[in-house]
Order: sequence, then structure tokens, then C-alpha cells
Amino acid sequence: LPDGLALTPPMGFNNWNSTGCAIDEKMIRDTADLFVSTGLKDAGYEYVNVDDCWAAEKRDPLTGRLTHHPTRFPSGIKALADYVHSKGLKFGIYTSAGTETCARTMPGSLDHEEIDARTFADWGVDYLKYDNCHNQGRPALERYTAMRDALRATGRPIVYSLCEWGQNKPWEWGSDVGHLWRTTGDINDSWQSMLGLFKANAPLAGYAGPGRWNDPDMLEVGNGGMTDTEYRSHFSLWSIMAAPLLIGTDLRKATPRTLEILSNREVIAVDQDPLGIQARAVRGENGQWVLTKPLAGGDIAVALFNESDRTATVGTTAAALGLPQRSGYVIRDLWRKQDSPTAGAISATLPAHATALYRIKKDADWRDTPPAAEAGLHLDSGA
Ligand code: DGJ
Repeated sequence: LPDGLALTPPMGFNNWNSTGCAIDEKMIRDTADLFVSTGLKDAGYEYVNVDDCWAAEKRDPLTGRLTHHPTRFPSGIKALADYVHSKGLKFGIYTSAGTETCARTMPGSLDHEEIDARTFADWGVDYLKYDNCHNQGRPALERYTAMRDALRATGRPIVYSLCEWGQNKPWEWGSDVGHLWRTTGDINDSWQSMLGLFKANAPLAGYAGPGRWNDPDMLEVGNGGMTDTEYRSHFSLWSIMAAPLLIGTDLRKATPRTLEILSNREVIAVDQDPLGIQARAVRGENGQWVLTKPLAGGDIAVALFNESDRTATVGTTAAALGLPQRSGYVIRDLWRKQDSPTAGAISATLPAHATALYRIKKDADWRDTPPAAEAGLHLDSGA
């Protein structure tokens, strides 16, 4: 949506991948605390979001409003949103564009869009994830648009996430309806799942931009089903694809290694680059992937990804990336945090499932010299 929200991909947390329905208000408060104490907030993570199962089974009979689940969120949602806000963070919630949510533990918002949007705005909600279960076979565009209009009518800025699973090509209509749209079914904490979502999301690069993002689902980093090498690939690929970075692990149990991956600011800067361009895959044969993402100021991010089960050398050249011709480039390795010069070949020998992520830096003499300047240079040197 071109309304000034989500100008870079949303960053934050959602409990679903780590807890499913076993959620409670303490976890959300603890997560807000941990965003501050671990430095994740300073690294850019902002939204603390609650997924399915937060509401009571029935609407309030007097007001028709959704209300908090009595044992999972005993203090109520307004109090929780206030707590999250008191930490300088934003609060997100969830419902479904159907009669019930997917877990069937609470009502959905179909035909209750106005009252639910008003309730969320009254509570101070900053982000809504709108799911697709129990939708009565009604057209997605109609259902998702109804909630867009209801949110807009509240006057509160609320980031709107279309969780339609890519079923009706939301990348073709989502930019008029929401700020991000799921391009795929659900992720699970496995290499195969992450890889499948990457491959489905990568070709949709042309649809993404500020305020309109492809969403290949939330992060699994730290949940235990992949190796750290694989989690670094997951985080690198999501970042170069300008995907939302929603942490999906229980931060109370996160290892230093997990926090190190999630907090890598130079990788995050690739995701959050203000140009908002999603990387394009310039090659992907034999499980050897090269992706490039133009960055503000003329730098370029490059990911070399070895999908295969064996060590492999993955590479490309400056010419193949369309870089201006010159004798050398400075490349920064964003995981090793090292600069190295190169004469034009960009390649890495990578263990199975590993990704190298680079920023190729534009420097002072990196310019296609325009003819007039060239003449000036000539005169100067002749003087
Ligand atoms: C399906 C969504 O795709 C998931 O991300 C999660 O929100 C579950 N529903 C909750 O039931």
C-alpha cells in the first residue's frame, strides 16, 4: 500500500513457529524485554506480534467484540499492547478472513471487519496478520479488501499482512490491498521447507518494493531443525530477497549463535536497504545460486548459495553482474566481516548448504566517466 508504512520490510517477532497455540502474555512481554536487553531492538527489530489462539472462543455477547483468551492473556490485549509500547516497540495481532481462525480456537473476522478493526485500533495494534482459513469459498480479493477498508477507516496506521498463502497470486493485486503478502504455504523448521519457499519466492522479485513486499513466511532461525550453516543461508536469502524478518524462535532460550545470526547488522542492512529492491537470481543451475540486489548509493549485495549436498565453488564475475569495468573492486564478506580486494572474479568455495553474502562497495573511482568529465580530466593532466 502506498501510504508510507512498511517502507522497508517489517522486522520483529511472531510466536507461531515456536509455540503454536501454546502462547501466553508472559512470553510476549518477555520477548519485548529481550528485544531491548539483547540489542535486537537497536538492530532494527520493532514489531512484537501475537499469532492464532489469543482470543476467547466466543465474541463478547454484549458488544460483539473479540476479547482476550481468559487464561492465556488474563490481563487483556490493551494492557499487553501498552507494555510493548512502553519499551519503544510496536504490537501486532492476528485474525482470519474467515469464520474461524485456522486453529479453530477463536472467531475469525469475516463479515466483522469493521468492529474488529475498530477493536484493534482501540487497543493500539500496529500490525495485523490476516489469515485465510474457513473463508467460505469467498473471493480473496473481496475479503482482504474489506479488512483494508476497515483498517483505513480507523485512522490508525496499521501494517497489513495478507496471509493468503500465495493461492490467488496476491503479488498481482496485493500492493493495492496490503503492505506484504505471503507467497507460499507455511514454513517448517527444515532445510527442504526453507529451500522450497526460497525457490517459490525468488522469481517474484519484480513485484516487491517499498510498502509492498513478498513474504516467504517467518524465520525458523534457532528452532533446532537446521544447522547454523543452514540458518545463516536462511537469513541471508531472506535478507537479499527483502523479505520481512520476523523472528520465529523463543528468544528466552536462544543461544548466542542464534542471536549472532539474527543480529548481524550488515546482513540486516541488505534486507532494510531503502531502495527496497528484491534480489534477482542471475543463475541457479546445479544448485549453485547467484543473487544480486542493488543497494542505495550504488553498492551491490551478492549472495553465493550452494544448495547442493557437497562442497562446491560458486562464482560469478563483475562483468556478469553488470558492474563497471575497472581494475579491482572492494568486496565485504558480511558473515566474516572482512573486506577483500578482487580483480573481478567473485567466487567462494562453500560447504554444503552454505551461503556467502557480500557487499560490493562503490568507491570514488567507480563511475562511468561521462565524456565531458573525461575531457576535463584530459585538460587537467595536460596543464
Ligand atoms: C496459517 C498461517 O499461514 C500460519 O502462519 C499461522 O498463522 C497459522 N495459520 C495459525 O493458525
